[in-house]
Amino acid sequence: MTTSPQVFVLDAGGQYCHLIARKVRDAGVYCEVRPSETPAAELAGAKGLIISGGPNSVYDPASPSVDPGIFQGGACVLGICYGQQLMAHLLGGTVQLGQKGEYGLATLELDGVASSLFAGLSGPQQIWMSHRDLVSAVPEGFTVLARTSTCAIAAMEASARGLYSVQFHPEVVHTTRGREILSNFLFGICGCERDWDPRHRVPLIEDEIRACVGDRNVFFFVSGGVDSTVACALCQRALGAGRVRGVYVDTGLMREGETEYVRGMPGVTVEAAEAQFLGALTGVCDPERKRHIIGEEFVRVQERIIESRHLLDGHWILGQGTIYPDTIESGGTEKAAVIKTHHNRVPGIQRLMEAGRIVEPLRSYYKDEVREIGRELGLPGEMLERHPFPGPGLAIRCLCAERDAPLTEIEEGWMIPLRSVGVQGDSRTYAPVLEIEGLDHARATELINRIPGVNRVIGRVGSSAGMKDLGVRAASLTPERLARLRRADAIVRRLSYASGFDRQVWQFPVVLIPLGTAAAPDAVVLRPIDSVDGMTAQSVGMPEDLLHSILAEVLLVPGICAVFYDLTHKPPATIEWE
Ligand code: XMP
Repeated sequence: MTTSPQVFVLDAGGQYCHLIARKVRDAGVYCEVRPSETPAAELAGAKGLIISGGPNSVYDPASPSVDPGIFQGGACVLGICYGQQLMAHLLGGTVQLGQKGEYGLATLELDGVASSLFAGLSGPQQIWMSHRDLVSAVPEGFTVLARTSTCAIAAMEASARGLYSVQFHPEVVHTTRGREILSNFLFGICGCERDWDPRHRVPLIEDEIRACVGDRNVFFFVSGGVDSTVACALCQRALGAGRVRGVYVDTGLMREGETEYVRGMPGVTVEAAEAQFLGALTGVCDPERKRHIIGEEFVRVQERIIESRHLLDGHWILGQGTIYPDTIESGGTEKAAVIKTHHNRVPGIQRLMEAGRIVEPLRSYYKDEVREIGRELGLPGEMLERHPFPGPGLAIRCLCAERDAPLTEIEEGWMIPLRSVGVQGDSRTYAPVLEIEGLDHARATELINRIPGVNRVIGRVGSSAGMKDLGVRAASLTPERLARLRRADAIVRRLSYASGFDRQVWQFPVVLIPLGTAAAPDAVVLRPIDSVDGMTAQSVGMPEDLLHSILAEVLLVPGICAVFYDLTHKPPATIEWE
């Protein structure tokens, strides 16, 4: 038995689409995401439709659209950002092409119109804007509800027809009263009922697992991460521990203690594959080649395990920790698609899916909901709050260099000729790194905007040699360097966890870069960030005393000469360095 959605979020390509759906579910209303072009007939029965934001202009020939039938009164509609522009465009209003756009905080002035959308709100409101085009004339029958200093139509409605829209983003935390605006739409306007609490769904998920698995057994490729662990625990509860097995592939690219941690999980065996992975990566410097090779080796190991353990013989079914965003084709970035291919959709697994031999108990749930379910199952909080860790593991946190290269001193600091990854739109860019004095985030942002060709700025926390004595040193992915990174990472994690800082950040990569001296050829970069979903992220500062204790211990690791702090937000720098 599945709940039918009261609300559909129509994905117009915006990075905020899943955020909207999560906020609706947080409000206790079950919703699902659909491609924006879904025919109105397939959305019948929903009480509300929300058209998401998106990067396009309504005037681009290839821009996403919606079936105009959705405006005919079946459900109330809320357009957000691009969704507002699309609504205006399709219903006879005018959208003005913007040159520069408006990004960031703005103040919303409500125009004294009593609208159900803004019930309970009065006076100026802090909102978050991210748009280039804007609506310059509303369609016939619409009323303007609000404006900002640069956007005369920041919200509009045709309440008799159940149509509402906002140019800003109520789903992001920076819109202070965004939650209430969404609740007004869901409950006051659409008349939704509270029907969603993931914790109450555990017995239902167990029924689904039993129905899907039948009398077969389940095996998992576990990673030690939250999703596969919770999915595995659900299957154990539904079927009994004896019918569930886990295999963990030790790639040699994992963090310190990880393999031992996973070995302690009930029903899990470890497949040693370090030699295979490290062998295939010998001498490889290019980040994308590393990812590709790791992906291919994963495929090989997984297929080997499936074959050798006779998991295709009909007595087994594969369990996966796939979560809702992984199942949505549209709206995923190019990179999300790659990640998915590596881990959940490799060819051997595709064959199992086609044969109906996959169970994915969490495929309708978001990460926060998975954590809630995990808590309901009594899994330890420490496990449930684990930070995300990339599939390719430490390989993409251990930078390599083909040859030695000197640093260049410029007025603002030192240019380090490493290839660090940045992000522009959905594409990756590679650029050198700028080192500056001090840990000043505002200055880092200013410099990135000013100096062409730099997408990452780091500050030096401390070093055993001056910058003028350091250089980029030819280095590859050796067991020695991986061990060095593993040690530094373990120190940082231990201290960060003990101080409580760990719980204040969303993720905390520790990166090894080939920058140093002959005696100590590497340096460590600390990259604590805050984020909602990894799509955008803020570099966060850390308490002085924690920084000092990290520095003191990491500098004792043989081969490490310096500790730096990454001061860059995403965009323009990605969270990982590769
Ligand atoms: P970036 O570096 O793109 O990272 O800002 C965003 C989030 O994705 C994770 N990440 C990966 N996860 N395979 C993964 O499983 C990958 O190749 C990969 N690259 C980045 C990263 O850790 C962050 O949480």
